[in-house]
Amino acid sequence: MLFETVSAGGCRSYLIGCEKTCAAVLIDPELSQIDRYIALTAKDGLRIRYLVDTHTHADHFSATQQLARQLAVPVVMHSASPAPFIDLRLQGGELLAVGALRLQALHTPGHTRDSMCLCVEDRVFTGDTLLIGGTGRTDLPSGDAGALYESLFEGVLKLDPSLKVFPAHEYKGRSHSTIGQELAENPRLQKKDRDAFIEMMQNLNLTMPAHVTEALRTNMTGGKTVAQMLSEAAAIVPFMSLAELNSCLELRRNDLILLDVRERDAFEEGHVPGARLLPRGQLELRVNQELTDPTKRILVYCEFGRISTLATATLRQMGFRGAVALDGGMKAWREAGYPLASGKES
Ligand SMILES: [Fe+2]
Repeated sequence: MLFETVSAGGCRSYLIGCEKTCAAVLIDPELSQIDRYIALTAKDGLRIRYLVDTHTHADHFSATQQLARQLAVPVVMHSASPAPFIDLRLQGGELLAVGALRLQALHTPGHTRDSMCLCVEDRVFTGDTLLIGGTGRTDLPSGDAGALYESLFEGVLKLDPSLKVFPAHEYKGRSHSTIGQELAENPRLQKKDRDAFIEMMQNLNLTMPAHVTEALRTNMTGGKTVAQMLSEAAAIVPFMSLAELNSCLELRRNDLILLDVRERDAFEEGHVPGARLLPRGQLELRVNQELTDPTKRILVYCEFGRISTLATATLRQMGFRGAVALDGGMKAWREAGYPLASGKES
């Protein structure tokens, strides 16, 4: 078995490959690590056959959907998962064949309703059901402390004590533990009485993970993150630096249309001299009156440089091939001490 661990900010993903056939499975991939997974498969001479999420993640962005498109391989989750883009829904006890390897799914609800663990050879991938010295929380959507108790004490903890435990999160840099070690040392597992365990889980008072609504929205629906929207837009637009724009102004080049896509009050408070106002929210509907020559160079800017990137991508999709986004926004322009005008459009 070929085996790679990828750590990203406390999240763990695992690449498991069959040496005989070069087939591999990727467990809990994270959106920011896509290039790393592809690089690792190349390094190990592997071909990913399945993308598995052990559960609907609430604290990071799953890469399964994007990788599925990129690699044309199926996304695998438990059958209780709400996501609509799953190709293969497993039930507890079923096997995933990856070359000569067999991964057995164990349905382990509790952290979420769709949580599962996967056993292969000498190890078990426990998702957020069992962590090293901890367990997944049960206070996020579809969490259930009683179900977690049963999944642990009637399921995972009854596995061979020598099995190595590889969780979906690890914050202290430990590579793995074993079922036996967790039974003996994991503080949460010392509450062996069901009611005491539930009471403990319900009184952890944990803070909400960052981006929880965005993670659930994208992981449950297959929708895009804001960062994805921005990077996809940035990939299809050219940018102009603040200094370059300033030298265009100094040279009084009138072949460049300056388009401010903020709201009117922000524009009137201070804008780039000579700029025209066309708020982002009205862009598509007013573009035909405001920008009559699709061949003109158009420099688009906003306050921080993000909305202008989206607006420039929209303009280019509409045929304005000369649309360019300012690299930075009015905030950076002001702070750099470049010239400002105020009031209505001149
Ligand atoms: Fe989780």
